[in-house]
Amino acid sequence: MNLQIDAIRLQRELDELAAFSEVLSPAVTRVVFTDHDLQGRAYVKRLCEEVGLKVREDAVGNTFARWAGAAPELPAVGTGSHIDAIPNAGMYDGTVGVLGGLEAIRALQRAGYQPLRSLELLLFTSEEPTRFGIGCLGSRLLSGLLDAAAGDRLKGRDGLTLNQAREQAGFAGSLDSVALDRDYYSAFLELHIEQGPLLEQRGVGLGVVTAIAAPASLRVTIEGVGGHAGAVLMPGRRDAFLAGAEVALAVEAAAKSTGAVDTVGTTGVCNVFPGAVNSVPSGCYLEIDVRDIDQVRRDAVLDRILAAAREIEEKRKVFIRTELINADSPAECGPQVVAALEESCKQSGYAYDRMISRAYHDSLFMSRVAPTAMLFIPCRGGVSHRPDEFASTEDIARGAHVLALTMAALAGKINSETRGA
Ligand code: GLV
Ligand code: MN
Ligand code: MN
Repeated sequence: MNLQIDAIRLQRELDELAAFSEVLSPAVTRVVFTDHDLQGRAYVKRLCEEVGLKVREDAVGNTFARWAGAAPELPAVGTGSHIDAIPNAGMYDGTVGVLGGLEAIRALQRAGYQPLRSLELLLFTSEEPTRFGIGCLGSRLLSGLLDAAAGDRLKGRDGLTLNQAREQAGFAGSLDSVALDRDYYSAFLELHIEQGPLLEQRGVGLGVVTAIAAPASLRVTIEGVGGHAGAVLMPGRRDAFLAGAEVALAVEAAAKSTGAVDTVGTTGVCNVFPGAVNSVPSGCYLEIDVRDIDQVRRDAVLDRILAAAREIEEKRKVFIRTELINADSPAECGPQVVAALEESCKQSGYAYDRMISRAYHDSLFMSRVAPTAMLFIPCRGGVSHRPDEFASTEDIARGAHVLALTMAALAGKINSETRGA
């Protein structure tokens, strides 16, 4: 098969998608169901329809673009990722897996390949937790791990529930209909930038992911007593922000206490109420992210943070409410999908490393409903979730090439024998 990735077109499409953003280039902010997100989705759908893929959307806006195989009744081979971007992010996180997946399908079409199983591109809704506080919203619902009623009740930072926000965005119907049957996909693959430095440091162009670390997140709401910054004397203060600052320091201490390089803890959101320089903070709201590849160790860190919050509450005479938003299990990738990726790297003569993903991805949840694996490409300096996130056109094209070969191997051909068909 003469498989050629059109790297120039793929880079142009990544650049065009990056323009649907609340902030100026090179930064990208594209929060789920905002106008920019909807414009980005329309752009991707148009590209899919241009090459004859059949597009459908589910009740939460997960978007499927299918190239029907000769045996459409067989479970399909899926690939995809997300296009939403956290505030002040870069242009490659998620998008490489969506547009790279589409280019992989187009390259297979151009090569005259005819799939036996259907091939399907998936654009997941809200991999990022920015709006609803929970990551991998679309894939969580597809996996059935998030119950529909609980999903609809999730409240966004603008006060709208998921139910209201998705309806405004044009995605109606019951969330009950989103979960996929266990035999919907025979395999799922996600191409993504590494978001870490290892591939670049080792000079290796591809990473085959064998496991994904377990994320958890907490919301902490603190009520103290406000007042005039000049008139309330220091000894009597019940400053909500200072209690919040101590909680954030406790997060750092708890994560470091394991001594393991794989344990990380971050307080990435801190809102202070009323937020005036001459007012003692009466309220403080934190969002905390804790991860580890070892779930037991991760849970022990969560327990330490909760215990510290109780002590701080007592000591500072404030009221602290903690809410566990999610505490997910790590994922093991599907051995046969990992093997298919490795075989494609070898066949193409590309060096690769096996690695774990410290970032989470929709594949964490897809692995609950289908044998799943991920393919990483390097990103400069390991930088991600920043405007200077960068992956070279060449690295992206290499990833798309291996993705295409692997999808073809897993989907099988109609007219000649294939490996893995
Ligand atoms: C995904 O964006 C993550 O935070 O790992
Ligand atoms: Mn991300
Ligand atoms: Mn991502």
